[in-house]
Amino acid sequence: MYKDLEGSTAMITGASSGIGRAMALRFGREKMNVVINYRSGGQEVDSIIQEIEQSGGHAIGVYGDVTREEDVKNLVAAAHEHFGSLDVMVNNAGIENEVPSEDLTLEDWRKVLDVNLTGAFLGCREAIDYMLEHRIKGRIINVSSVHEMIPWPHFVHYAASKGGIKMMTETLALEFAPKGIRVNSLGPGAIDTPINAAKFSDPAAKASVEALIPLGYIGKPEEIAAAAAWLASSESSYVTGITLFADGGMTKYPAFQGGHG
Ligand code: BGC
Repeated sequence: MYKDLEGSTAMITGASSGIGRAMALRFGREKMNVVINYRSGGQEVDSIIQEIEQSGGHAIGVYGDVTREEDVKNLVAAAHEHFGSLDVMVNNAGIENEVPSEDLTLEDWRKVLDVNLTGAFLGCREAIDYMLEHRIKGRIINVSSVHEMIPWPHFVHYAASKGGIKMMTETLALEFAPKGIRVNSLGPGAIDTPINAAKFSDPAAKASVEALIPLGYIGKPEEIAAAAAWLASSESSYVTGITLFADGGMTKYPAFQGGHG
């Protein structure tokens, strides 16, 4: 637990399930105020709020589509109205779908770039604007992926969006370091979340993913949430502009394990 997080306010986009949900619950255990943004999965939000309140934090749920400028402005306004601050912004909302690139429609390309990259940009912009206005030494955490680094056939739109997140994070980190605002990315590997549920329900597909993970297992959402809590806390005070990979070693060329090459 990080004492300095207690009483501070975080917003997490796409927090009704998966990694976003786990981060919301973790921040609740840190006794933070949590704005839970959701677009789908609204029926899950009440139970997340309840769990956060039980663990000593506070929470509200706010519907909003991260691709819509007004919705993102409204999210930041909600944090201010309910909790009087915004100290930590987590741009987590993301989507993916598998399509061979020669068949990828412009519509699908745009949809993924819109949610994963433009949505994260809007979240960064609105949060930073707020933090500057209120002189808050805030922290931004952009949820990226191992695929900001590892090429991913059939997911070119997804990989491109995450590559974009990497450069956006680094640029904003540089731009706002003089104001004390830290901007980092968090790069999960293969995690046990709804986005992967269909894939991991097939034992052969699951085993082929596990073979790409030096630590040997699919990560848990809580393991990503733990990395997010560290990035949000003052324990990472000298860290800005990085991607913290929480991936069981997936980005470390597992094919070379055993001395191949
Ligand atoms: C994707 C997962 C995938 C993992 C490793 C993540 O960014 O969301 O679907 O299993 O990368 O390839």
